[in-house]
Amino acid sequence: MTIQAFANIALVKYWGKQDATWNVPLTGSLSVTLAPLATHTRLMAADHDQLWLNGEPVPLPARMQRVLAQAREMGGARDPLRIDSHNHFPTAAGVASSASAYAALAFALLAPLGADLKDISRLARLGSGSASRSVYGGFAEWLPGTSHPDSYAVPIADEHHWPDLRVLVALIDAGTKPVSSTEGMARTVATSPLYPAWPDTVARDLETARQAILEKDFERLGEVAEANALAMHATALAARPAVLYWQPQTLALLRHIWTWRHAGLACYATMDAGPNVKLLCREKEVALLLHHLQDAGVNEVLVCRPGAGPRVLEEGHACK
Ligand code: DP6
Repeated sequence: MTIQAFANIALVKYWGKQDATWNVPLTGSLSVTLAPLATHTRLMAADHDQLWLNGEPVPLPARMQRVLAQAREMGGARDPLRIDSHNHFPTAAGVASSASAYAALAFALLAPLGADLKDISRLARLGSGSASRSVYGGFAEWLPGTSHPDSYAVPIADEHHWPDLRVLVALIDAGTKPVSSTEGMARTVATSPLYPAWPDTVARDLETARQAILEKDFERLGEVAEANALAMHATALAARPAVLYWQPQTLALLRHIWTWRHAGLACYATMDAGPNVKLLCREKEVALLLHHLQDAGVNEVLVCRPGAGPRVLEEGHACK
């Protein structure tokens, strides 16, 4: 049995943990699940726990061991497992796959037990915080809670709610080793003088984003998503030493987006713990934006739309 789960992009960011062992965040966050950025995961009996990533054996990460241990505590996956995970992203470069990977794994481990999506979200969260949100199609909000049992994501609206919404992932070649989001947020929480303003910002932005999604108010959602991303990067930039994810091309593209928008093209930017820029837009603007992006020197763009939650793939779709 092969499980498919999609990545997601946060419109209100998760940035900071109250408990790093259990991945309990300091604030809520909200995202849209992104098709077609999928991970396909299959579990098989084996003589010891092992992970195969895109067809190659790799060491089992500590976080994955924690997910397996927790699943076993819940009565799942009793025997040793081989986890076969394939990222079906159009390109391997520059798009984080941990959210789709851990959402697929948590679903594969718990769905056979009849667990609900809340349980699956909690388990996915132990692997990577953002994975808690990929357990739902469409729009999801991760409620921070205070400890493992009450920290999980809930659905806001499914993947059919806003069918013409698009996210264009503009891939920028960094050429430098990035600081992981885990490390970047830890350093920001510990040292950034701007971090104390972050929780209130998130609380306000969550409210706005939630309403904008329910009302399908594109400008409102775009504005709050862009402002929230910039605020997150501002807290990181003020960390000591600074955490700076942007490359010169990131900033150049941000300025282009502002120019296009001021000329009447409805598009907004968001960025995560890396140099890529994700553009929020509607279907009718995609062709023109792709043209502009090419003129701006961006060679690779992934066009994404709201995607479904994890599901069992029919035979024939199985991992290669
Ligand atoms: C900037 O979920 O990758 O993408 O929980 O340490 O694995 P860990 O972090 P991760 O952080 C994602 C940070 C972000 C914002 C977001 O997705 O909400």
